[in-house]
Amino acid sequence: MSSNPSQLRLGIAGLGTVGIGVIKIVEDNADLLSARTGQKITIAAVSARDRGRDRGVDLGAYAWHDNAVDLAGDDNVDLVVELMGGSDGPAYALAKACLAAGKPFVTANKALIATHGKELAQLAEGKKAALRFEAAVAGGIPIIKALTEGLSANNISGLHGILNGTCNYILTRMEREGLPFDEVLADAQRIGYAEADPTFDIDGIDTAHKTAILAAIAFGMAPDIDNLPTEGIRNIVSVDIDYARELGYRIKLLGVARQQDDGVEVRVHPAMVPLSSPLANVMDATNAVTVSGDHVGPTGYEGAGAGQGPTASAVVGDIVDVARGVWYPPFGVPAAELGSPAHLGSEAHIGTYYIRLKVADVPGVMADITQTLAREKVSIDSMLQRGHADDGGVYIVLTTHETTEEAANAALNHFNALECVLESPAMLRIEAA
Ligand SMILES: NC(=O)c1ccc[n+]([C@@H]2O[C@H](COP(=O)([O-])OP(=O)(O)OC[C@H]3O[C@@H](n4cnc5c(N)ncnc54)[C@H](OP(=O)(O)O)[C@@H]3O)[C@@H](O)[C@H]2O)c1
Repeated sequence: MSSNPSQLRLGIAGLGTVGIGVIKIVEDNADLLSARTGQKITIAAVSARDRGRDRGVDLGAYAWHDNAVDLAGDDNVDLVVELMGGSDGPAYALAKACLAAGKPFVTANKALIATHGKELAQLAEGKKAALRFEAAVAGGIPIIKALTEGLSANNISGLHGILNGTCNYILTRMEREGLPFDEVLADAQRIGYAEADPTFDIDGIDTAHKTAILAAIAFGMAPDIDNLPTEGIRNIVSVDIDYARELGYRIKLLGVARQQDDGVEVRVHPAMVPLSSPLANVMDATNAVTVSGDHVGPTGYEGAGAGQGPTASAVVGDIVDVARGVWYPPFGVPAAELGSPAHLGSEAHIGTYYIRLKVADVPGVMADITQTLAREKVSIDSMLQRGHADDGGVYIVLTTHETTEEAANAALNHFNALECVLESPAMLRIEAA
């Protein structure tokens, strides 16, 4: 730390959207930050790839490092802020170099923490160095602080999150404007709401990184991205959005982590949530998380999940904590105690389901369907039959009572083999989020 205890000098690796946002807050709100921490928070050094790029802020007063990892060894830097991104490469090297040297490290990098979180936490704890990553999950929403601090008295029974603004934006527009997925995605890319390569967002990987981090803190388990069943929103079609609404639900991409009798169930997938639930009414690019604890009951958090201001706000909140001397194990419990509790696969999931079938409009179809479900011990909660699809088929839409995912999948496999079923059935989980 600085030899002058009344100042905290930052080294910022990455000068893109978030990095520049952090510089703006540190410069604009210098007096406020000083009053709140009792320290002068300054920027000593920065790093990015392209030194010549105009970034809209004057970087002339700050030392420049071509190699971001050198920030770890810069004696004029008390705390390193990593805003480059990527689970490996320079972000990982910089994190290890800082923490091994006992230098506090703040990051917005969900991929880094979801992949290497336990190892980095162990390094941090060994040196009592801070490792903070509030901005890595749900941007400006202080959900990590809520879990590690405000809710620390509780056994968490479950959490649900809308954690990817791009997906929520796409689903919102599909519903509002009745547009197909591809068209909304292309438009979202054109206006900068989705990346040129949208895979991370729309295939649920970004949500999985964030869910793994939240589950780690909520349930004291190491983040485990490799064993996290993940489905994105690529296969959501307008007809399911319309039926969902008719049945009183809305489709959302959810990160779910739930304590079950024999382990913690962690998964990412689109789900139908009741229109009356808080998450159903989170629209556009907004993020939200609900968490239930044994004493506090249900709680909810909502706000901007990305963008320069909200994300930088979370990063600077972490810097303020470090300046105040706040320290605890990064995941709330010592990293050595982060277990790998029985991860329950999706087959073990018990829940209710929405199933949509396109069938030939011939006698006996209903009997085939109900017999198939009965054979797998899946009981029907509600059933709709709707007029002719373009090709003369008929849609049959049903919701089930509680059943295992294994049974629901088995029924789907049998449906696929029925002659009257004209295309692969669609299935969505229903979540009382
Ligand atoms: N944007 C958001 O709304 C948001 C929200 C939550 C979390 N995050 C996370 O915040 C981090 C930064 O995101 P961002 O949107 O600010 O990214 P960005 O705009 O793409 O900026 C990345 C910055 O990192 C620099 N960089 C990349 N590789 C580097 C290397 N090898 N050495 C030095 N600098 C390097 C780039 O340098 P050049 O500019 O010279 O190319 C750029 O300045 C990521 O981990 C992201 O997941 C972002």
